[in-house]
Amino acid sequence: MSVTIGTPLQSSAFKVLLLGSGELGKEVVISLQRLGVEVHAADRYDHAPAMQVAHFAYTLNMADPAELKALIEKIKPNLIVPEIEAIATQVLVEIEEEKIATVIPSAKAVNLTMNREGIRRLAAEELGLPTSAYRFADSLESFRAACDDIGYPNFVKPVMSSSGKGQSRVKSFAEVDAAWEYAQTGGRVNQGKVIVESQINFDFEITLLTVRAKNPETGVVETHFCDAIGHRQDSGDYVESWQPQPMTAVALEEAKRIANKVTVALGGCGIFGVELFVKGDQVWFSEVSPRPHDTGLVTLASQFQSEFELHARAILGLPVNTARHSIAASAVIYAGVDSTNLSFSGLNLALANPDTDLRLFGKPEGFKRRRMGVATARAESTDKARELASESAAKVSVNLNN
Ligand SMILES: Nc1ncnc2c1ncn2[C@@H]1O[C@H](COP(=O)(O)OP(=O)(O)O)[C@@H](O)[C@H]1O
Ligand SMILES: [Mg+2]
Repeated sequence: MSVTIGTPLQSSAFKVLLLGSGELGKEVVISLQRLGVEVHAADRYDHAPAMQVAHFAYTLNMADPAELKALIEKIKPNLIVPEIEAIATQVLVEIEEEKIATVIPSAKAVNLTMNREGIRRLAAEELGLPTSAYRFADSLESFRAACDDIGYPNFVKPVMSSSGKGQSRVKSFAEVDAAWEYAQTGGRVNQGKVIVESQINFDFEITLLTVRAKNPETGVVETHFCDAIGHRQDSGDYVESWQPQPMTAVALEEAKRIANKVTVALGGCGIFGVELFVKGDQVWFSEVSPRPHDTGLVTLASQFQSEFELHARAILGLPVNTARHSIAASAVIYAGVDSTNLSFSGLNLALANPDTDLRLFGKPEGFKRRRMGVATARAESTDKARELASESAAKVSVNLNN
């Protein structure tokens, strides 16, 4: 069975509802627009990046089940594409059960991955994949015991959080109580539960973009891999990424085995960002996003089809091509200030090298550590590409207007 795409804004329209309208969603919307899809974009604030390129925009609290359900019933989308984790995922389970719309990649995937406990138990306990040692705790007493059990240093993360929020690296028992307090402020919902993970002493970490897409002839869902993306994280936030990340053939096979196993278990069609730690030939599963991954912004410069085009194609049931044409890197541009209505200059210098490119996301408000744009660069080696992307990003100046 193949998809039929109608005409946007007419009764035949094929409608996609994007839940979360950040910079990754913006690129997905652009890819969908190119294929004639009618796009509806939602977020909790006005003028979010993806809203600016969608046909329709909605501002609402997506964590509120009633508000979310009402929106879905009003739009009647063919596909619902979650772009963030902070949504009332139980509504998506109902929507899928009632066959009102298809949830991308599946309600199960969205539901399990929004909670670190769900995905960790699936990966380690059901699928038997290698992970760091871990414990869960929901009180200060059980947290102290979990930390002592796992040992030091360890990583503490609220189970309902992303982008490093509420996370800390605990080096000794003396830091345990402060880490608990910090985790309580960083969770998405006031749930209190945390995961304590043993530290993996990896050589490097990668994102293995994994695409589940239908074979154009048979309609059978097949797994495709992009080349491994290396990245550097600072306080749980990605600062730069590059592709390909060199690794041993054994480690690459193991990375693919792990990514295939976890994405098959999550099901559906679309792209997944599988985060893995690598040391020599050894690979550990860390976490997975059932959507494009921020470190995958580099694919805008390195691949024939970026991770956003791959996602758009896969969710529409179309064939994909994960081939890379260049070695490339990406470097993040931060606001550096807490302010609205920012402007960006130095773009002429940032783009002076013909192998560089830029994305400015158009976010209405900046914070010191908020990602406002990204520079990408192609080069003959990842080291050169990283240097060029960072230089390009550094040439962009962020200016206040009010
Ligand atoms: N168990 C661990 N061992 C070593 N480093 C870790 C561990 N857990 C997290 N990290 C580091 O912290 C980063 C963020 O952790 P992650 O679980 O990916 O959180 P987030 O959901 O915020 O991205 C990782 O990319 C890695 O650099
Ligand atoms: Mg991560």
